[in-house]
Amino acid sequence: MSTHTTAVTVPGQCPEVTRYLPWTDPQFRIDPYPYYARALAEAPIMRDDHDGSFVLTRYEDLMHYGRLPSVRIAPEWEKAGAWRVLLDMALGHDEPGHTRLRRLTSKWFTPKRVREWAETTAAITDRLLDGLGQDGLVDGSDLAVEVTHRTVCHILNIPADDHDEVRRKMRQAMPILSARPSQQDFERAEEALDELRGRTAALIEAKRKNPGEGLLGSLVAAQDRGEMTAAELLATTLFFYVVGHMDATYLICSGLHLFTRRPDLFDAFRENPDKHEAFVAELARFDAPEPVVTRATTEDLVIHGVHVPAGRSLRLMLGAANHDPAVFDNPDEFDFTRPPEQTRNLTFSFGSHGCQGRLLAEAEIRVVFERIAARFSRVELTAEPDIRNTDASRHYFTLPLRLHS
Ligand code: HEM
Repeated sequence: MSTHTTAVTVPGQCPEVTRYLPWTDPQFRIDPYPYYARALAEAPIMRDDHDGSFVLTRYEDLMHYGRLPSVRIAPEWEKAGAWRVLLDMALGHDEPGHTRLRRLTSKWFTPKRVREWAETTAAITDRLLDGLGQDGLVDGSDLAVEVTHRTVCHILNIPADDHDEVRRKMRQAMPILSARPSQQDFERAEEALDELRGRTAALIEAKRKNPGEGLLGSLVAAQDRGEMTAAELLATTLFFYVVGHMDATYLICSGLHLFTRRPDLFDAFRENPDKHEAFVAELARFDAPEPVVTRATTEDLVIHGVHVPAGRSLRLMLGAANHDPAVFDNPDEFDFTRPPEQTRNLTFSFGSHGCQGRLLAEAEIRVVFERIAARFSRVELTAEPDIRNTDASRHYFTLPLRLHS
């Protein structure tokens, strides 16, 4: 048993989570930060009576318990309904399978490669901005998904004209990952992932017939050499193809939305090119697109005096930890001038499963803002955006904007 604090189990010390984080409350789903703040102050560990899981919010707790060797990623993805397909990619594996699968894609996301991909992102963004009318009207969500999906398709070296359909199916598939999925969410996710699996299988077949450069070609070759199974090839390709746009799209929208409310921040972004990376890091800290990752205990633990048995799910609230006042001064303030020790956000997770696309995502977000800032002086909201979040993933369905030259 691993103990972090003295082992005293007092039921009152472990409140039921919905007293603090009301998973299905629309207000919580749009703006969870006041709720996180209360949980951070009063309830470092909570239990969820619905499924027997435990919920952690504090930065140091996530870093400590999330990294314990006994805290595993398997079998969490087995519980994820249609998303169990990810059991066959790096994200679904503990060691040693994880490293074997992760290595097959790592050379595509080096800093040097990401600099090349960022040029593609810039060219795509410029082309879309060239196509805007005199009125400067644009849906930020449409712009963001097209830029990020086309970029990932370029990396995979596959056709890139289906961002609308992929986005539609992802919107259908994501709600299942929330803390309280409905029966309908399960059915809708099965249907969406059937379709996305079919599309992915067709892309793999096409690549097999016409091998070429790019990430997908290299994965197909790896399978031909016996380095991965057909199921692993399908799951890995599916992940990049269907998930590769999603969270960067959210952060681009979140940033553009912020620019509409805080024109001073848009001006500051334009005037401080040396702060662009810090700006994107702060945006990622401020509003994590996937505020939670889930792990499983394989040994009994005692966390803040609470007995957590083996075999339970641990919900690690990245979005809350990013606003932990023990690490970040004025955590609910957007401040891109934070000192280095306050820029270490958990939005891209941590440890061995830390996001492989982090550098790419950060570059995409930065480049979209830079291209917009190079041509336009103001970002205006022309109607209320349609934002549909769960507790576990955040999505702009629309973001109606006018870009002023
Ligand atoms: C803002 C954008 C993004 C965010 C917030 C994000 C977030 C995350 C998170 C939280 C995880 C870890 C999940 C866990 O620990 O259970 C993860 C893993 C991963 N992400 Fe991202 N991601 C983003 C963009 C991307 C992009 C653009 C790619 C690639 C094109 C990508 C590829 C991956 C991969 C391959 C993993 C699995 C890593 C592993 O298990 O070893 N991500 N991401």
